Amino acid sequence: MSEFIPVLAKEEIAARVAEVAQAISNDYRDRDLILIGILKGAFIFLADLIRHLSIPVQVDFMCASSYGSATASSGRIKLIKDIELDIKNKDVIIVEDIVDTGVTLSYLVQHLQSLGAASVRICALINKLERRKIEVDVDYICHAVEKGFLVGYGLDYAEFYRNLPEVYHLKL
Ligand code: IMP
Ligand code: MG
Repeated sequence: MSEFIPVLAKEEIAARVAEVAQAISNDYRDRDLILIGILKGAFIFLADLIRHLSIPVQVDFMCASSYGSATASSGRIKLIKDIELDIKNKDVIIVEDIVDTGVTLSYLVQHLQSLGAASVRICALINKLERRKIEVDVDYICHAVEKGFLVGYGLDYAEFYRNLPEVYHLKL
């Protein structure tokens, strides 16, 4: 039987999302900000985050997959969907559900820089520390965890559990 151990309650998530949105609103006042959500995991986080922003913002999406098993990435990244907006000379923030090895994000940061973004920062719901392979600067973090496979609030296991309103550590 798999076990779901609560990690983040609804209220904790909501409070941190609002704080991070406030920080982004302060940092990007008078700038041309584009948020780029990484599908699919970031869709709920992004939806909540943008509703707390007090500055103008444009939104786009990207989808990358790291060929691998259900719970570990292989280290090879494939871009499945690119952005549609022109980000040349714009400030962009990548919005990601969870940073694990850092392989996906380092690839996406390089990709957005190659498209001419003025700046590229990272905002993640969860920074998972134990398995980092490539150092990435995560500028805005809602929560940090040491380890464990997490599901809920957009995060999936084999495409299930994204709909859970809270975040759980899934023990298979
Ligand atoms: P990275 O390239 O290893 O940093 O992997 C990042 C991607 O792996 C995330 O965008 C997630 O899609 C997935 N991932 C990593 N850890 C977890 C987890 O604990 N739960 C669900 N998905 C995860
Ligand atoms: Mg993801």
